Amino acid sequence: MTDSEKDQEPTQQVESARKAFEQEFERFARFIGDSADLSALSLEQASAEQRSLADVRTRHLGKKSALAASKKLIGRVAPELRAGFGQLVQATESTLIGAIDQAEQRLKNHIEAERTARESVDVTLPGRRPRLGHRHPITLVRERIEDIFVALGYAIEDGREIETDFYNFDALNIPANHPARASQDTFYTTTDLALRSQTSTVQIHAMQRRGAPVRMIAPGRVFRRDTPDPTHNPMFFQVEGLCVDRGITMSHLKGTVAEFLRRMFGVDTVTRFRPSYFPFTEPSAEFDFSCFKCKGAGCRICKNSGWIELGGSGMVHPNVLRAVGVDPQEFSGFAFGLGIDRMCALMYGLDDIRLLFENDVRSLEQFE
Ligand code: DAH
Repeated sequence: MTDSEKDQEPTQQVESARKAFEQEFERFARFIGDSADLSALSLEQASAEQRSLADVRTRHLGKKSALAASKKLIGRVAPELRAGFGQLVQATESTLIGAIDQAEQRLKNHIEAERTARESVDVTLPGRRPRLGHRHPITLVRERIEDIFVALGYAIEDGREIETDFYNFDALNIPANHPARASQDTFYTTTDLALRSQTSTVQIHAMQRRGAPVRMIAPGRVFRRDTPDPTHNPMFFQVEGLCVDRGITMSHLKGTVAEFLRRMFGVDTVTRFRPSYFPFTEPSAEFDFSCFKCKGAGCRICKNSGWIELGGSGMVHPNVLRAVGVDPQEFSGFAFGLGIDRMCALMYGLDDIRLLFENDVRSLEQFE
């Protein structure tokens, strides 16, 4: 081997290291220069390119790279050629570093821009308004009733929907085998429990808890074994009312119901009572009010009668007072019960109460 051959060798090594790099870098070359266009590159693609570029850097500039090996040869090159060779190695190294750095910077910028675009929010778009629900028509009517009775000094009681026979029947003066049980046939379980068929049960709970005097209303769900049709549903809502004190008479009952209906349907509302029968009241009466639509003249809502039937009422039966340990010699009271659903259907012009329970927002959302 001649001297010049020996000197040639390292130069060639550097040369082939540069060629090998150029070959591999070719696919990254499109990222640099003024005409470079990265716009077609997705965020994921750009990140993948960034990783392979880092790999290229390690392989061509790292400790085990051909260029690093060439650097070690600098000392072995003939003294007169050493400076030239050293410069070649350095120049090659900075060419490689420059190319990789540029491509990397472009990729980085692109990734950042893509990320910003992805996360950006168009503040000029109209906001998405959350859909707010509103109260059910029955709730709206119930709340109006509650407001009126609270203003008249009544407390609001919350009853139970599952009851024993004692609360649903016995304490209300409906002994076993009484025919009134049949008309309120309900949903029984195999134990002594049943879904309550009336809110009158709350009279018993209220008097047990508070004793007398007491003034309360109890709105709530009741259940009866019934086939659904436009005016019936096996689950419906009632409001129970109870007033027990010394010296309460039928006139208090009539005055209270009449005042309630005036506040509910307008000052010119007329109330009428018809004798009736309920086991837990004596005497008993059903009450109607003059139609809120035609004011008694007769229309479709009141079926041309001028009156709308609303509920039952009466003077609390002494047996009911005794069942809860209130002395009927000292106290007397009146009670009433009315259905909310039918009233609600009439007020909102529904011809089928089942619309209230099907929970189809298209019909329910019409009532505010
Ligand atoms: N509980 C009766 C029913 O469901 C309604 C009723 C009538 C309640 C007369 C009363 C009353 O408090 O005195 O048909």
